[in-house]
Amino acid sequence: MIYNDIDFNTKKVLITGGAGFIGSNLAFYFQENFPECEVVVFDKFRSEETFSNGNLKSFGHFKNLLGFHGEIISGDINCASDIEKLKTYNFDYIFHQAAISDTTVMDQAIMVQTNVNAFKTLLDMAIDMNANMIYASSAATYGDSDVFSIGYEKPNNVYGFSKLMMDNLAYKYMKKSPISIVGLRYFNVYGEREFFKNKTASMVLQFGLQLLSGKNAKLFEGSDKIRRDFIYIQDVIQANIKACEPKKSGVYNVGTGNARSFQDIVDTIKNELNIQITDEYIPNPFIGQYQFFTEADISLSEEFLEYKPRFSLEEGIKSYINEIKRIDKNG
Ligand SMILES: NC(=O)c1ccc[n+]([C@@H]2O[C@H](COP(=O)([O-])OP(=O)(O)OC[C@H]3O[C@@H](n4cnc5c(N)ncnc54)[C@H](O)[C@@H]3O)[C@@H](O)[C@H]2O)c1
Repeated sequence: MIYNDIDFNTKKVLITGGAGFIGSNLAFYFQENFPECEVVVFDKFRSEETFSNGNLKSFGHFKNLLGFHGEIISGDINCASDIEKLKTYNFDYIFHQAAISDTTVMDQAIMVQTNVNAFKTLLDMAIDMNANMIYASSAATYGDSDVFSIGYEKPNNVYGFSKLMMDNLAYKYMKKSPISIVGLRYFNVYGEREFFKNKTASMVLQFGLQLLSGKNAKLFEGSDKIRRDFIYIQDVIQANIKACEPKKSGVYNVGTGNARSFQDIVDTIKNELNIQITDEYIPNPFIGQYQFFTEADISLSEEFLEYKPRFSLEEGIKSYINEIKRIDKNG
């Protein structure tokens, strides 16, 4: 799918976090649609190291890149000498996806350093090489807000706070820099190549695997009323590509514009799999730091990026379900 008339075959592209879920999908987008595009993936990859919540410090996995023909660099965005290696390239576009993506990490110093401070280094690098910057922000910036438009942020965890601080920094740079800078506030993303995010992968995958293994889907109590804006990976890729040459630099929401419940996810998967099994309801342990409702206001994304989501929840799950079946069989 080609989303605009940029000929990426003549371009050099950096994808930080390119061994992760969204970054690896971007890498394959270029490989499949623009085989001459020079794609460099920069990622810390995973090790056994964990944060205080017990989850891995980084989720990048080589298997997300099996079949990728571009160049890969193992490096840490917090490490000056690793970033130095990138300065010899003359990138046209930088897709900055590398981050602590786990919203439940409580280690504040490393969260701010990785998500905010390293971003500043990359912004400076982008300006030096005249590369347009497209970076991952998050709907977590809205936190406790009940308005999902730019300017109504109320983050309720350090992850959401760090993404909001990235946006604030980006606004400062937009005022003074010649490159275009676009922050994309992804809502809840699901789709191919998310498996290696372990427990932090989307509930679409987790419910799918529970159901395929013959178990009941485990939902939080009141899940028919917990509604979020679930967005399929292909629409996230669309937003990234359209953000390469925006009508205006800015921070934009990336969602469907339609909140759906967690119960809808389970019902849709059961329908796709033709499974009839009762659901199990458990108390929600995250109350206080949990978003009960999100729904992207995509009016600015439509206007300035010409972004138009193509997948409803039903269509996204339909497109994804065979991959969930494959994961259930082979891991
Ligand atoms: N998936 C979602 O629903 C969602 C929603 C909102 C925002 N985001 C943001 O989108 C981006 C991509 O998320 P994802 O879902 O693909 O998560 P992911 O964890 O799969 O990808 C992040 C990648 O960054 C790498 N990384 C982590 N720390 C690094 C470091 N210090 N140096 C270099 N690489 C490092 C990881 O190894 C991983 O490959 C992140 O910035 C995340 O915060 C994701």
